Amino acid sequence: MTDRITVEGVYKIFGKSPEEALRLMEAGDTKEGVLAKIGQVVGLCDVSLTVPAGSIYMIMGLSGSGKSTLARCVNRLIEPNAGRILIDGQEITGADEAQLREIRRTRISMVFQHFGLLPNRTVVENTEFGLKLRGVTVRERRNKAMEVLQIVGLASWANHLPHELSGGMRQRVGLARALATDADVLIMDEAFSALDPLIRSEMQDELLRLQRTLKKTILFITHDFQEALKLGSRIAIMSDGKVVREGTPQDIVLNPNNDYVAAFTRDVDRARLFDACSVMAQCKPLALNGEGKASSTVDRDAPAFVIDDGGRIAGVVAADALARLEQGLAIRSVMTQDYEMVTSTAKLSEVASIYRRDRPIAVVDQSGRLMGRIDPLQILARIGVPAQPPAAGN
Ligand SMILES: Nc1ncnc2c1ncn2[C@@H]1O[C@H](COP(=O)(O)OP(=O)(O)O)[C@@H](O)[C@H]1O
Ligand SMILES: [Mg+2]
Repeated sequence: MTDRITVEGVYKIFGKSPEEALRLMEAGDTKEGVLAKIGQVVGLCDVSLTVPAGSIYMIMGLSGSGKSTLARCVNRLIEPNAGRILIDGQEITGADEAQLREIRRTRISMVFQHFGLLPNRTVVENTEFGLKLRGVTVRERRNKAMEVLQIVGLASWANHLPHELSGGMRQRVGLARALATDADVLIMDEAFSALDPLIRSEMQDELLRLQRTLKKTILFITHDFQEALKLGSRIAIMSDGKVVREGTPQDIVLNPNNDYVAAFTRDVDRARLFDACSVMAQCKPLALNGEGKASSTVDRDAPAFVIDDGGRIAGVVAADALARLEQGLAIRSVMTQDYEMVTSTAKLSEVASIYRRDRPIAVVDQSGRLMGRIDPLQILARIGVPAQPPAAGN
């Protein structure tokens, strides 16, 4: 996966003498300290991050932590005082006005919290607005607008006015307008924050569904940690203009690394966050058409799955039956169907619901090939607050 957005050591100070603020920050002052000493507001302090192409990357933090400032630096609505921002390797912090206009028109689209729809224009006119500014012909922009309205499920509302739509639908228009420009990068600043919880959750599902085919690079800003966990493939957590933690949702929940982050992770439903893969143990299967004996590598204390030539599960041999294979019994005669099976992406809540005492759980890939097995104790360790932190890298 290539990197679409790279932010390197970006600073943004709001005030008349940013150099002085930068000097104080470099000497170790905090945002509060700088404000107290020279009355300048530190918006961003040495922010670096890398957004992989095609991912949903979350910027999360409390109000005032610098999220919108970062988003505005990325599309250069404001200029950082120091550092570099690159989009597909092109430095936008050095771009001139003409280049910037081009970048904003064709490569980056914004979706805002309060939709930013024009009240007297219809849904389709709002959707095609960016294309109109670009000078795209009526016919072409209308076709494009109808195409994206179809994608967000609003084609039949094309000729209605924004006030006739619900909040969720209006935000879909905002999304459609951003999609209409064909920009690869979407910046969504608290795009769902104004929506009612139920509608918000639907919009999150919708975005995830759309993203499976669109594969845009989305920089999504939120103050809601649950939203960050649900949508993000990676999350950068900000506090006082700094990125204080960065990683996958699972990384961050397992190892918050500091109290500020730990406060967000405490109430997370781990059973819905972690998948089967995250607690899977390796297992050495028996080959259905092999020589029929348990090889010396098979673990005698655990049941052994039997796989066919295609790697799919044919059955299982209970731990206490393994010895009988050594006595020359055929696999088929000791193999049973007493097991459960989950795909590697199944959440632990789902795995727990199929768990039956004394039935081993196999993990299979999307094509049904055996990947490993799950020890139920590992599920408990992962969803409870573990007495000992799990090893890093799991
Ligand atoms: N134009 C501005 N002038 C002065 N201070 C600003 C300006 N924009 C933002 N700030 C300050 O920068 C900090 C970060 O703001 P912002 O990026 O909007 O935070 P967030 O989006 O995380 O709520 C805040 O302390 C805010 O008051
Ligand atoms: Mg903001």
